[in-house]
Amino acid sequence: MTAILSRHHDVMAALHAPQQFSNRVSKHLNVPNGMDGDEHRRYRSLIEPFFTAPQLAAFQPRLRFLVEQLITTINPNQPIEIMDTIAHPFAVQAQCAFMGWPAAMTRKLTQWMQAQNQATRVHDRRRLNELAQEFTDLVVEQLAIAREQHYGQPTVTRQLTLLRIDQQPLPDEYLVSMIRNWTVGELGTIAAAVGSIIAFLATHPLVQAQLRQQPQQLDSAIQEILRLDAPLLGNRRRTTCPVHIANQQLPAESTVHLDWQAANTDIEAFEQPYTFDLTRDQSLNLLYGAGPHVCPGKPLAQLELGEITRVILEQFSHFQLVEKTPIRAQSPRGGYQSVWVQFNH
Ligand code: HEM
Repeated sequence: MTAILSRHHDVMAALHAPQQFSNRVSKHLNVPNGMDGDEHRRYRSLIEPFFTAPQLAAFQPRLRFLVEQLITTINPNQPIEIMDTIAHPFAVQAQCAFMGWPAAMTRKLTQWMQAQNQATRVHDRRRLNELAQEFTDLVVEQLAIAREQHYGQPTVTRQLTLLRIDQQPLPDEYLVSMIRNWTVGELGTIAAAVGSIIAFLATHPLVQAQLRQQPQQLDSAIQEILRLDAPLLGNRRRTTCPVHIANQQLPAESTVHLDWQAANTDIEAFEQPYTFDLTRDQSLNLLYGAGPHVCPGKPLAQLELGEITRVILEQFSHFQLVEKTPIRAQSPRGGYQSVWVQFNH
């Protein structure tokens, strides 16, 4: 049986009852999102230190540099399709930079993503299996390079190779799974988030002006924009026993979809849920989930989204949507497929 949880209260109940709502929803290894209980806690505690303030402070100058480089490629006073020109390139460049990978890897990963999207569109299973192997090969190559990095500040990839569980290094299979989650697993979400933020600001000039004057409100504004327009539409759970939830009785082994978009616009949790409110208390916002699997990459995501939005607001005095109708992305993707915006100095 399959159920969709769309009320905020029900989604929260499932998130905070991991014994009944397991994260083991697929036979594929997924470190740590597809793990439960003690196993999940052990791997989760290994990855949390990668997203602390000192780690992110060390990354910030590199991030700012790549954002500035990317924004200088925008031609002012003419229509730009922002998903292809800004959102997708930014996501892949930022994640590769975070991992400490060279520019060649950014190009390879971009081509890999295009091939993956194409194979997904036409349901080409054979090609998808080949692509999974190609991704593994690309990452294993970077792991080999990182193991040889004996000088300088260790890259994030090098730090991953130094992790130990029971005094043993993690097998490549586990490292590849973690890195898949941090890189290609998040590219779509980050790109969707960037697209939705720019599109929202392009249609709300007063919010643009307010954020230029009060950039300290950027984080709240971004959370509120993405509460209204979820970049990640949902995640899954599997019931481990019979459960009563959302006025229904679910047998064990049911698949449960957590609908972030619906929960985040539930009137029971948010007054005037479809209104953008910069003063709203964001503590109930499920953009980054909640409970034991809450997004550990939230500080990195906030840094990246804040940085690109801040630079765009600084570089252009205003920007607005142009005549062409924006096209929404198709589920399971959130945000837009294409949006045309004109930036002005
Ligand atoms: C706008 C950007 C992002 C959004 C909206 C987002 C959202 C989420 C959400 C809702 C979850 C919970 C999933 C669940 O309960 O099953 C999650 C988990 C996770 N996220 Fe993010 N995320 C973002 C960026 C990132 C980044 C940049 C990273 C790392 C580089 C990251 C790493 C992870 C990991 C490893 C998990 C699994 C955690 C666990 O199972 O314990 N995320 N994310």
